[in-house]
Amino acid sequence: MIPTIDSKRLTAALVAAALGLAGAAPDRAAAVPNAGTAALAAAPAGATASHTARAPSALLMGTAWYPEQWPRARWEQDLSLMEAAHINVVRVAEFAWSALEPRDGQFDFSWLDSAIAQASHHHIRVVLGTPTAAPPAWLTTKYPDVLRVDENGRPEEHGERQQFSFSSPRYRQLARRIAEQMAVHYGHNPDVIGWQIDNEIGPPSFDQETRSQFHKWLQHKYGDIAALNEHWTTAYWSQTYDNFDEVPMHSKSENPGLLLDWKRFVTDTWTDYINNQAEVIRQHADPRQFITTNTMQWNGGFDHYTVHRSLDMAAWDEYVPGGRYEWLDYALQHDLVRGYKRANFWLMETQPGFVNWGPVNRSLDPGQVREIAWQAVGHGADAVLYWQWRSALNGQEQYHGTLLGADGTPVPVYREVQKIGDEFARASAALSGTTPHSKIAMLQSYESRWAIGFQRHQKDFDPVQEFEAFYRPLELATQASIDVVSTDAPLQEYALVVAPALNVISEQQAQHLAEYVRQGGHLVLGPRSGMKDPYNALWPQRQPGPLETLLGGRVEQFYALDQPVNLSGVESGDRRASIWAETLEVLSPEAHVWMTYDDGQGWLSGKPAAITRKAGKGSITYIGAWLSNGLMQAVAAHLLEEAGVTPSLPGLAPDSPVEICERSGNGRRIWIIINHGTKAETVPLAVKGKRFIVGSGNGATGNDLQLAPHDVVVIDMSNYQPTISGGAR
Ligand code: GLA
Ligand code: GLA
Repeated sequence: MIPTIDSKRLTAALVAAALGLAGAAPDRAAAVPNAGTAALAAAPAGATASHTARAPSALLMGTAWYPEQWPRARWEQDLSLMEAAHINVVRVAEFAWSALEPRDGQFDFSWLDSAIAQASHHHIRVVLGTPTAAPPAWLTTKYPDVLRVDENGRPEEHGERQQFSFSSPRYRQLARRIAEQMAVHYGHNPDVIGWQIDNEIGPPSFDQETRSQFHKWLQHKYGDIAALNEHWTTAYWSQTYDNFDEVPMHSKSENPGLLLDWKRFVTDTWTDYINNQAEVIRQHADPRQFITTNTMQWNGGFDHYTVHRSLDMAAWDEYVPGGRYEWLDYALQHDLVRGYKRANFWLMETQPGFVNWGPVNRSLDPGQVREIAWQAVGHGADAVLYWQWRSALNGQEQYHGTLLGADGTPVPVYREVQKIGDEFARASAALSGTTPHSKIAMLQSYESRWAIGFQRHQKDFDPVQEFEAFYRPLELATQASIDVVSTDAPLQEYALVVAPALNVISEQQAQHLAEYVRQGGHLVLGPRSGMKDPYNALWPQRQPGPLETLLGGRVEQFYALDQPVNLSGVESGDRRASIWAETLEVLSPEAHVWMTYDDGQGWLSGKPAAITRKAGKGSITYIGAWLSNGLMQAVAAHLLEEAGVTPSLPGLAPDSPVEICERSGNGRRIWIIINHGTKAETVPLAVKGKRFIVGSGNGATGNDLQLAPHDVVVIDMSNYQPTISGGAR
C-alpha cells in the first residue's frame, strides 16, 4: 500500500530536518552540513570543510535509478514512489554514456537536467556516476584501440561493460572529456551531492600499450635492470634480463617478484585512471561534492588503500548471492571498507532481496534487508542504496531483485525498504557525526594476500578466510567493530593489533610494528608472517624475518597439513589446527611458549606452536598454525585479556547472534543492536530509562531487552557508562 499524501508530506519534512534543511527548500544545498566525520563534527552547520569534500553527515537511503531507460512521462511516478519509501538519494548515469554523448563530442544533458530537477522536487539528492564503465558503440567502433585485451590476447567487444583498457591514453582522454563536461554542467548544482567515478573498476588489460607502460613503470622503479635482476633473483631459470623491454607481462605462473610488481603496476594504473577523472571534476565542482568509487567485496585486483588516497570517501557494493547472510563475514567487510580511508563510508549498492548472478539466487528472508542495512550503519555506513529501483525491460540483469516490478508497482520488499527509510530519517540526527571506535586493529595487506595467493602451498590456504578466522572470535568476544587497516596506519590508539598472515613485510613496516610494541601495544602475528621482503623474495632470516629479534623466536619450519593436528596450552574443547602448521623455536630467555603441538604428530611432535615475548612496554606474539574456530575462540579470549579489552556488554554469550554496534562522536554514544539469528534473543541490557530511537524494545522486562529474529533497535546510550576499555596500556 502506498502511503497517503499526508504521510508523504511528513516524510519530506523528516528528511529535510535530518539533512538540516528545514524550511530551506529552494536553496537547501547551502545548508547541508559538510561534516561527514567525527573530526569535522564541530564545524557549525553549513560550514564547508575547507579543501576536502565530505559526504553529508546525515544518514541517507537511496537507490540506483536509470531514468535513461524509461520514458520521461514515467519519472514522476517513480520519484513519488521513492519519496514514499523515504528514499532521499539516487545514484544515476553511471552507465549512460551513449545518452549523455550520443555522438563523438556532442553532449546532451537535457534529460539528466530534468531528471535531477524532478528528483529535487521530491527532496531526493543525486550522486552522479561518470559513465566510463560502459563506453558507447560509436566510441569502440571508431577507436578500437581502446578495447581491453584479455590475458590470452583476445580483445573485448561492445555489448558487455568494462570493455575498455585501463591504460589506453585515448580512452583516458575521452573519459576525462565526459567527466569534465559533466563537472562543468553539474559541479555547482545544489542537488548533486557527490560523484562516483566509473563503476567497480578492476579488470586489467594485457594489450601492447599496457606492456610498454609496465616496462616504463619497472624502469622507473628499478632505474637499472641489474637492480631488477637482483631483487627478482633472475639467475633462477636463466631469467636474467638485459633491458626492461624483455620482461614478460603475466599475472600468474611467473617469478613471484614479477607477479607482485604486476599487481602494484595494476594498482598504480587504476589509481591514475581514477585520478584522471577526479582531478578534472575537482577543477570544476564545489568542494562540498564528494568523489568516490564503488568497490566490490574483497576485490583483490588492486590495492584499495592506494586507490583511495585521492578519493574523499570509500563506498562498496554488498551482495549476498546465495541469500544466506553470514553476518560476521559482512561485519568484516564493512570494517575493511571503513579502513580504506579510516572514516565512514557508503554502501553504494545492496540487494533488495536477491541478485541474478549466483548459482542459486535465493532471496534474503523477510526482515533481513533491514538487518543488513542497519549492520552497515552500525559499522560506519552513512548511506545505503539499493540496486536497483526497477529492472530494465531488457538487458543482462532482468532477474535481479528490485523495488518495483516490471509493471512499475512495488514488490513485497519495497515495504521493508520503506520501513528502513523511515527509521533512517528518525535516527539520522542522532547518528550524524558519529563513527565506530575500536580498541583493536587488524592489519590487512594486499601484498601479503597476493604473495600467498600466487603460491598457496596448501590449496585451502585462502588468505581472506584466514583473516576471517582471526576476525570472527575477536568480533564475537567484543561485540564491536574492529578497525581493519593497512600496515602503515597509526597504531597508538589500539590495545591489540593482529596481523593474521603478514607474509610480505618491509624493514620499515617491521620498525613501525616494533615501535608500537615498545610503546605498550600488543602485537599478534599469524602463520606465514614475516617470510617475504617487499620484492616477494624470501627474507634471508627465518620468519618473522625483520621481527625475529623482537620476538626472540622464529619459525623453524612450515608444513602444509592434509589432516587436522592437535595443540595444547590453551583451555578449549576443540584443540585442532588444520591447513597450516609451523614449528617455532625460542631464541631468547624472555620468550615463552604458550601453545605446543601434541606428541605423536611427526615433525610437529612436542614443538612450540605459539610464543610470546614481552618487549618494551608491550608484547609480541606469534601463532604458527591455522586454528579451528573453537580453539581460536579460546585464543581470542586469552589475547583480549592480555590486552585488557573488554566487551561492550558483559554477559552476552560469546556465540550469541546478537551484535552490538556502537557509533560515537559529537558527545553521543549510539548503540545499534541487531539479532542476526533466526530465534528470539534476550539481551542482558537494562532498558529502563534509555531512549529508543528505532524499535521499542517490545517485550523488554526492565532488565532485559527482547529481540525478535532479524530485529534491530537503536538506542541512545549517551548517558551509559563506557564499558569498552583499552585496559593495560
Ligand atoms: C623437477 C625439475 C626441477 C624442480 C623439481 C621440483 O624435477 O626438474 O627443476 O622443478 O621438479 O620438484
Ligand atoms: C554490481 C554492479 C551493478 C549491478 C549489480 C548487480 O554491483 O555495480 O551495476 O550489476 O552488481 O548485482
